[in-house]
Amino acid sequence: MKCIGFFDQRPRRDPKTLFGREREISRIVRAFEANSWVALLGPRMAGKTSLAIASSHLFSKENGYNVVFVDLRNATTSRQATERILSRLPESVLQKIAKYLSNVTLGAGGLSGSIHLRQHASASRALEDALFELEKTILILDEIQNLVQGVVPFMRALATAFNENDGLLVVFTGSYAGVLRKLFETSPSDEPYGRPPLQVTVSPWPEFTAVDFLKTGLEECGVEYTDSELGMVLWKLGTLPGWLNLYGLRRCLGDSDEEALSAVFSMGIRDARRELENFLKGRTPKARMALRMLSYGATWGELLQKTGMSKETLSRLLDALMNELFIVAKDEVGVYRISDPLYRYAAERL
Ligand SMILES: Nc1ncnc2c1ncn2[C@@H]1O[C@H](COP(=O)(O)OP(=O)(O)O)[C@@H](O)[C@H]1O
Ligand SMILES: [Mg+2]
Repeated sequence: MKCIGFFDQRPRRDPKTLFGREREISRIVRAFEANSWVALLGPRMAGKTSLAIASSHLFSKENGYNVVFVDLRNATTSRQATERILSRLPESVLQKIAKYLSNVTLGAGGLSGSIHLRQHASASRALEDALFELEKTILILDEIQNLVQGVVPFMRALATAFNENDGLLVVFTGSYAGVLRKLFETSPSDEPYGRPPLQVTVSPWPEFTAVDFLKTGLEECGVEYTDSELGMVLWKLGTLPGWLNLYGLRRCLGDSDEEALSAVFSMGIRDARRELENFLKGRTPKARMALRMLSYGATWGELLQKTGMSKETLSRLLDALMNELFIVAKDEVGVYRISDPLYRYAAERL
């Protein structure tokens, strides 16, 4: 079935299947050509992983690079992150840094499973040495924002690699938190982090792109639709590629509009709710109230007054909602509002 190719649940690898991201792809490829590292920032389901992989493959095909993808979603310490990265590197590189590794059988048959560092080996030294050995490689560090422990030595290893290995390009994806914030905000004189990566924000699609995407895919698999159905889909799901892709996929697999929309809508809200609850952990209970207010829209003054937060706390909260979760925007008249409908529904019910 053709449509299964169009609406694909996995991250997209082929730039030709990446809908409506031509500008982002060419920015990323141009950055690679200029030897710049890249950071893709944006909300979940925007297509960051897809963009990272597809652009890297495009560049690597033309320039003879290898692409190494590392999923860092659950890595919170630099040691874990380093072990994940090492597990993805070619055997020839690992052989050169064998002194840091425990119980790895190198040699015939290649490596299987994951790599572990020796108990007392320095993770950042191992990383630095490994990165130095990589030839013509694009390293994708996906979802790096959860790395919180050992960030400084980790960054230093990356900075050294940036300065010493011209054949290494790195793409970071995640939100503007943790490691990425450090990368952007540290001034060059503080620490030799190298030049900050080119920052590319991966936003929800404009509405016309979203509609075009759905129409193209639905037509490709011969599913009938009406404009008002699609209008409702955008109204309830917003324009993040991931949710629209799921809706399209379900329709192509035989769901009616109603079934597909209600299934994806519940999934989306559940997801948003989980994210918001995570976000609220360890914050003042007033933050919950602020989020509820933000689902309808509120000014700075209203938020300050009704929640009773201090200016600093409110400012930090809004900054995190705008730059880490990417779900709040401020309009021309100064109203802060949750821009994504799924998060808006979820926040209303907090
Ligand atoms: N530009 C796009 N065109 C078509 N589908 C896309 C696009 N971007 C993302 N998708 C689809 O949306 C889903 C989520 O994409 P992913 O890259 O995992 O997003 P993120 O990493 O931002 O959470 C995947 O199923 C992917 O195939
Ligand atoms: Mg991703």
